[in-house]
Amino acid sequence: MSGLRLADFHSHLVPGVDDGSQTLEDALEGIGRMVAAGIDRIITTPHFQGSVTKDAQRLAEELQRMDEGWVLVQEAVQEEWPDVDFRRGHEVLLDIPDPDLSDGRLHLGGTSSVLVEWPRFQVPPGTAQVLEEIARAGLTPVVAHPERYSGIDAHLHVVRQWKATGALLQGNYGSLVGRYGPGPRALILGLLSEGLLDYLSTDFHGRPHLELLIDEGREAMVAMGGEDAFELLAAVNPGRLFDGEPPLPVPPVVPEPTLLERIKSWISG
Ligand SMILES: [Fe+2]
Repeated sequence: MSGLRLADFHSHLVPGVDDGSQTLEDALEGIGRMVAAGIDRIITTPHFQGSVTKDAQRLAEELQRMDEGWVLVQEAVQEEWPDVDFRRGHEVLLDIPDPDLSDGRLHLGGTSSVLVEWPRFQVPPGTAQVLEEIARAGLTPVVAHPERYSGIDAHLHVVRQWKATGALLQGNYGSLVGRYGPGPRALILGLLSEGLLDYLSTDFHGRPHLELLIDEGREAMVAMGGEDAFELLAAVNPGRLFDGEPPLPVPPVVPEPTLLERIKSWISG
């Protein structure tokens, strides 16, 4: 544990509503581990399909279902960890380009930020315009785990377009240590080396066999000389999101070549 007070706004801890925790017991076991890891502010974010917002009746039914699960876990957390700031939002799937995000329950924990993702870890055409529209509605889109998308070029063009709209980027701790394979690991290191990432969160799915990977992610960043950047990404900036403040700039973290890499490049001239 780093001793930092961490804040985390991407997790799936409302029991039985998505692919996260299926029982209240599992959710509480997971939240206990988050608290032990130093997190004292949590926004949990069940999956929500943007297209559902276009159908008033389905929207009301879905949000009602989320509300019921949320109340269960919220009351239990309040009792067990009264000092933890525990809120809810959603991870909104942009399965249509123009979801209606006006219901405050779709925002992150009472703020004007909205956590979004595109289907199947693919970047469809027109993503920057979609984010622009969300920003035009007075909201700040936060793109969940950009490093997990396929089709992002090495120069990070589309990611730069997202950021130019005012969108912010949340990476997963697990990506730092290869939890999703070498592609997402390479991409998150690329984002860090350009100073493009704004936040780290767990995207924890609240089940006993799943690891948080916070300490492992921190170790990976410390090894790259990125200890200060880690503090910004894991503690300062997500804390500012809870307070409705924009993130602070994160200095680029460029991994030092290992001794072996240095020897190889010396040999190859
Ligand atoms: Fe998620």
